[in-house]
Amino acid sequence: MQPHPSERDLYNGLTSLEPTLPAAAYRDAGAYQRDLEAIWYRSWLMICREADLAGPLAFRTVRVGSQEIVVLRDETGSLRAFHNTCRHRGSQLCQESQGRLKARLLTCPYHAWSYSLRGDLVRVPSNSLPEGFDKADYPLYRVALSVWRGFVFINLVEDPNSSAEVSFDPASGNLSNWPWRRSSPGTSSAR
Ligand code: FES
Repeated sequence: MQPHPSERDLYNGLTSLEPTLPAAAYRDAGAYQRDLEAIWYRSWLMICREADLAGPLAFRTVRVGSQEIVVLRDETGSLRAFHNTCRHRGSQLCQESQGRLKARLLTCPYHAWSYSLRGDLVRVPSNSLPEGFDKADYPLYRVALSVWRGFVFINLVEDPNSSAEVSFDPASGNLSNWPWRRSSPGTSSAR
C-alpha cells in the first residue's frame, strides 16, 4: 500500500525488513559498555525542561552509566552542571535526586569542603593542608550544558564540538508549530 501523501515526507528510506539486534545485545555487559562509550558518554543527553529547575538553587541529579551529574541553577539563575563528586576523596555531594539547595554552596557531607555554585572550591576546613595547596587547583569537574528550546542537555565530552542547539536545529522546521517555550522560565545557561 502506498503511503498517504501527507506521510511521504516521513518515509525513512527502509525498503526491506531488517533483523533486530541479537538478544545478547540487551544483556551483555560488554555491549552495555560499548553503548556507554559510543553514545551515552559522548552525546548530548536531555535531562529535563528548564522549568523543572525553576529559580535559583534548584537542582537535580542524573546518572549516566558510572557517572553521576548534578545540574543546578546558581544564585544568578544560570544553569550549570558538574560531576556530583567531591575533589577531596570523591564523596557524593548532592545526595538527593532533586530539590533546592539550602545554601549558595555545595558542601561535601564527608569533610565539609565547600564549592561555589560556579564549581570553585571556596572553603576547606582542615588546618593540615599540604604545603602549596591551592584551592584554585580543585574546582568541581564541569560538564558541558546546553539549552535547546527549553530542554536542558548535558554532554560528558570535556569540550564538545557543538552545542545541543547546533545539533538539533536542523530538525526544528518540523516542530515550528509546537509551543516549546510556553512553559520555560526564559533564563540563561552557562558552561
Ligand atoms: S570527600 Fe569531600 S570533603 Fe572529603
